[in-house]
Amino acid sequence: MKIGYLGVGIIAGCMIEGFCGLGEQHHFYLSPRNVQKTTELAAEYSNITVCESNQHVVDASDVVVISMMASNIVDVLKGLKFRPDQQIINVVATTPPEDVREAVGTVGSFSQIIPLPSIKHRTGPIAAYPESDFLNKLLSPLGTVVFANTLDDIRTMQAITGLIATFYDVMHNLAIFCESEGLAHDRATSFMSAFFASLAENIKDADFDELAAEMTPGGLNEMAVTALQERGATKAWADVLVPVIERIKKA
Ligand SMILES: NC(=O)c1ccc[n+]([C@@H]2O[C@H](COP(=O)([O-])OP(=O)(O)OC[C@H]3O[C@@H](n4cnc5c(N)ncnc54)[C@H](OP(=O)(O)O)[C@@H]3O)[C@@H](O)[C@H]2O)c1
Repeated sequence: MKIGYLGVGIIAGCMIEGFCGLGEQHHFYLSPRNVQKTTELAAEYSNITVCESNQHVVDASDVVVISMMASNIVDVLKGLKFRPDQQIINVVATTPPEDVREAVGTVGSFSQIIPLPSIKHRTGPIAAYPESDFLNKLLSPLGTVVFANTLDDIRTMQAITGLIATFYDVMHNLAIFCESEGLAHDRATSFMSAFFASLAENIKDADFDELAAEMTPGGLNEMAVTALQERGATKAWADVLVPVIERIKKA
């Protein structure tokens, strides 16, 4: 498939590396800005062409991924001529998808996705809307595709992705605790990464409430969760997402 990228920054680079790790199934056409990134990608993979202009990207591609960070994105897109046979995939999270959809005009299909940088290693969730065989086939090799029923569902999943830094900060504090108890940093990180990965594995298709209640009465887990609940610390993770989703809805 011929896949064009309008905007080649962090997330486009991660997607392209994820795809290229699968071999040369696709050819990529990159917009010319961010010379450093496009030069690096073109030097590493032979199935990449750096285009002369954004219109060149659109003209060369069957699928166009919109991945630019531009305050004037609507004007930039309105200045391009898309074809009615093209599939457009928008990853831009900083402009309402409805505005981006309108700016590209008549196209074959328009999808909204939220990839994460982990797509580079072909792991992690990819929120996508609307559900289609095309998106499923294209993106499933890159991670777990979770289809949204509505654009608002996409916004809800996007809010959850706002907790990445919080999660790592919790890990950081736990590592400090381990080290203060004399456990070496590398042992602490090995143990915690295996421990939390196993908890994450456990929650697939699970009832979270039931899992949370599965603890020995009077045991260590009850002691820790009760102390955290008394401080409002577990519910706070959800509470902070109220203003986060408000901001997403106003974007
Ligand atoms: N990073 C993530 O994890 C992530 C995840 C999901 C969604 N997103 C969304 O994806 C979008 C891009 O994010 P990013 O993190 O990849 O940003 P980024 O690293 O800043 O990359 C954006 C790229 O867009 C280029 N650009 C700006 N105006 C352009 C134009 N008119 N034509 C072509 N390219 C243009 C920029 O070029 P210059 O360098 O020359 O300015 C830059 O290289 C954002 O809307 C973001 O919310 C990001």
